[in-house]
Amino acid sequence: MNFPAQPQADGYVTEIPYVAAYQRALNPSLQAMALNMRGVGAWQRGTPMTYMELGCGFGLSTLVHAATNPQATFIGVDVLPEHVATARALAQAAGLSNVTFIEGSFASLAGMDLPPCDFIAMHGVWSWISAENRAHILQCVDARLKPGGVLYVSYNALPGSAAAIPMRQLMMAGFTRAQGSIPQRIGTAIAMTDELKSVGGGFFADNPLAAHRFDELKTRPPNYLAHEYFNADWQAFYHKDLVASVKGLGLEFISQADPFMSIDEFHFKPAARAQINAAADPVISETLRDYLADREFRADLFVRRSDANQRVGDTRFFAAMRAEHVDLIKVRTTLGDVSPPRAPALAILTALQERPLTIDELAQHPACSGISKKSMNVLAFGLAAFAAIEPVMPATGEAERTESTRRFNRALWEKNHAALWTETNASPVTGGSIEVSREDQMYFLARAENVDPVGFTAKALGAPETEIRTRYRAFQSERLAAYQRLGIG
Ligand SMILES: C[S@@+](CC[C@H](N)C(=O)[O-])C[C@H]1O[C@@H](n2cnc3c(N)ncnc32)[C@H](O)[C@@H]1O
Repeated sequence: MNFPAQPQADGYVTEIPYVAAYQRALNPSLQAMALNMRGVGAWQRGTPMTYMELGCGFGLSTLVHAATNPQATFIGVDVLPEHVATARALAQAAGLSNVTFIEGSFASLAGMDLPPCDFIAMHGVWSWISAENRAHILQCVDARLKPGGVLYVSYNALPGSAAAIPMRQLMMAGFTRAQGSIPQRIGTAIAMTDELKSVGGGFFADNPLAAHRFDELKTRPPNYLAHEYFNADWQAFYHKDLVASVKGLGLEFISQADPFMSIDEFHFKPAARAQINAAADPVISETLRDYLADREFRADLFVRRSDANQRVGDTRFFAAMRAEHVDLIKVRTTLGDVSPPRAPALAILTALQERPLTIDELAQHPACSGISKKSMNVLAFGLAAFAAIEPVMPATGEAERTESTRRFNRALWEKNHAALWTETNASPVTGGSIEVSREDQMYFLARAENVDPVGFTAKALGAPETEIRTRYRAFQSERLAAYQRLGIG
């Protein structure tokens, strides 16, 4: 049995357990695919490379990708000692020798002996640091990113974030004046803003989007709000600002990191697409897309162009869902629910049920007769954008990758045993993150330790055994096979 197909939090419907879009986009395998979709060659999966993540937090995504790429080198940088200590402890527990965590500021990177990098990524960083720190990052990228290398930057985007700017300013005014701990000061700032809003009229009446955003953020926990809105720095950028910032470094924008975002047919009506296509300049096209979608957040991939980008890899794809669930592939966008064309999607999923195939192999598969190789290219990447199929890691290095990921997942299960730390595990098949609930991680840990999964999990979660027994049966019949296909457990 596979997972019942399930709608995911950001709208994807697949049998791969939910993966946050940003975790997927930080996966070098997905980044290579997003570039390949634009005809730009990138890293060949399974080969050595160096990937540096700036502002890596607790290092979870750096660790996932280090575990699934034992042939490659990973570096995580963060200024907070607690973040780095947690990341290092996990690397040690998992026996990952290909990852280094540097406790240091972006300013300190200039004086460090760092290797040339194939990938430099920063998620949730660029908009939340000072202009001075952005300059330090650019200096580091200039010095360390190889020709052909890829830069991933995510940021609060304009125009979608426009209404949030004065709202955050107001909340900061309350926060700065408030007394007590950070959560208390956040509480005071929210209450003050809410009070002002409840008077009616003025800014919130004129800017319903800001009012809506404020009502939504009020429900979030203080630790989320602390880093999302109450940082000393908070800025939104137009895409063109990013392009201008990295242009002097010889970096060119190629694609949004989430492949789904870069397929216009999924987001815009024909008249809008005609305007986008008529724009003389790619920066203007991208700007039009941001206005049409009123995009609040972007993750962009830039490439330091060179001859190294000539060769587009031959990606093998894996079916993330059963063919009979084809009608469930749907994502809600500004156009409403969008789906891939049904007949070719069904043909491709059918062909991929047995084993992963390349685009050439798909085009020759009997289930796909009638689809030309050229169309197959567009259709396969389109289905991958929906996460209905996923690019897979190569057969080369599989044993080492599987073992390294197994050790890492086991370290996560053990860390989650005492208390929930993360519901992310790593897949040696996709090379990236997969969501696994704490409960399912307890089943895996019990199985790995050869103890009764029901008794063990009931104790860990403080739940009655009878309840866990029923749920364990559902885990075995509904989810286990899908996890196993992803190389987890
Ligand atoms: C919002 S968090 C994002 C963490 C992680 N990338 C994620 O998406 O979950 C920003 C991270 O950048 C780090 N950071 C902020 N300023 C920094 C600086 N000047 N030097 C190094 N790290 C910094 C913070 O400690 C924090 O872990």
